[in-house]
Amino acid sequence: MSPPSLQAVILAAGKGTRMKSGRAKVLHPVLGVPLLEHVLRTVEVTGAAPIAVVVGHQAEAVEATFAGRGLTFVRQDPPRGTGHAVQVARDVFAAHPERTLLVVNGDVPLLRPDTLRRLIATHRDEGAAATLLSALLEDPGAYGRVVRDQTGSVRAIVEAKEATGDLRGIREINAGLYAFEVPALLGVLGKLQPQNAQGEFYLTDLIGLLRAAGKPVAAVAADEPAEGLGVNSIAELAAATRTLRARRTEALMAAGVGIEDPDSTHVGLDVVVEADCLLRPYTFLEGRTLVRSGASVGPFVRLVDTEVGPGAQILDHCLLRECTVGPGASVGPFAHIRPETRIGAKAKVGNFVELKKTTLGDGSKAPHLSYIGDATVGPGVNIGAGTITCNYDGAHKHPTHIEAGAFIGSDTTLVAPITIGEGAYIAAGSAITQDVPPGALALGRARQVVKPGWATELGKRRAAKRTEGPPAAAPVAAKAHRKD
Ligand code: UD1
Ligand code: CA
Repeated sequence: MSPPSLQAVILAAGKGTRMKSGRAKVLHPVLGVPLLEHVLRTVEVTGAAPIAVVVGHQAEAVEATFAGRGLTFVRQDPPRGTGHAVQVARDVFAAHPERTLLVVNGDVPLLRPDTLRRLIATHRDEGAAATLLSALLEDPGAYGRVVRDQTGSVRAIVEAKEATGDLRGIREINAGLYAFEVPALLGVLGKLQPQNAQGEFYLTDLIGLLRAAGKPVAAVAADEPAEGLGVNSIAELAAATRTLRARRTEALMAAGVGIEDPDSTHVGLDVVVEADCLLRPYTFLEGRTLVRSGASVGPFVRLVDTEVGPGAQILDHCLLRECTVGPGASVGPFAHIRPETRIGAKAKVGNFVELKKTTLGDGSKAPHLSYIGDATVGPGVNIGAGTITCNYDGAHKHPTHIEAGAFIGSDTTLVAPITIGEGAYIAAGSAITQDVPPGALALGRARQVVKPGWATELGKRRAAKRTEGPPAAAPVAAKAHRKD
């Protein structure tokens, strides 16, 4: 394998003051994963190595979140600007002067791999010392302005705070993504001065310094201006989430997934939905969820790390976490399926049913109002309405086993640990505390007592009392005495 021709530095040390949050900006989630994760994935597909991540604010938390994926963390403490961030990573990239260096702000989740590839191609084609990504915005706001000379070449980047007069009106902004030739960069990196409104070392000043040194600088415009938008506030985080969500649902629809209302459908970054599924409104698919072909999910359903088998149906208002639903099974409406649950093929879980750490066999049914926890239920079992596994004795959890073809009558409590044998019947309303052998009938309830005529007699006594008139008022003295 030839050595990599690219290396990268990702800037993630900033405090993110405008977020007004205790959490580091790059750890805020967008579409279910941290902001920085989006940037990392985009950079990783280029094959850049090494990838240095400059961390400072909440460095430990950021390092812990991205540990174990071969990144080189560099501490910037205290953060003194984006130029200073590049300076502290100098030893990492100076070790490979022949590799083009990508410098990427850690807060640009909308950046696409294609755009990054285009930037690298232009940088090489033009033999530039530096190439930056720009975007044309209606409102250039607080972004750095790209200043060009009479020939149209990039002359400098001027930060919004320093931009005066005509410069403020420039609508071409700096997106915070750059390619540098390392020797040229090393020639100017030490020359940065914190002489600006914020008293920081601006990475963007490197562009003017390179031009002053006679080096060629190129710029590439983003196809979609939104790609250049950095996330600096909670509102911008929400806007980025909206854009990424729309990109996800558009890609799914293009691949044959039915989505009734893309605006209310949320599909996380690592979720897989196969063709010919139907996602109904207000469906949230999160984590490593997989929805197989022909399945239908929603409306108002949330699936986390869950696999839904082919042709299965998850009906209105369900929450499922870390579980699998077999082919052709049906869940809901209003079901809560908790971790480590396996629902078999063509099984049915109905309304107000909670399953936890339970295997429900193929074709088994729990159609109404049940709690089944720590249980293995064989195939072809019917669990009547109101069945409860009493799996917890206040200190420990105990298992319940219900073998194939058993019939659990309505309103049964199964006191675990317990086994119900194959094909056994449990009478409705039973509290079952001992194992039931295969093929048996178990009744665990008080025997019914019938008193003929009792209610009729009661009615007669009450009618007689009414004709006698109201009872005399209680003596006042007695009442006063009771209050004492
Ligand atoms: C920066 C650019 C601006 C550009 C905009 C694009 C500079 C001086 N300005 O402004 O031209 O239009 O991005 O979104 O670069 N960071 C560090 N260490 C620091 C400061 C920041 O690692 O000392 C990191 C931050 O965590 C962030 C990134 O660098 O991921 C950008 O910093 P930020 O403060 O958001 O820069 P902007 O003001 O948005
Ligand atoms: Ca920013």
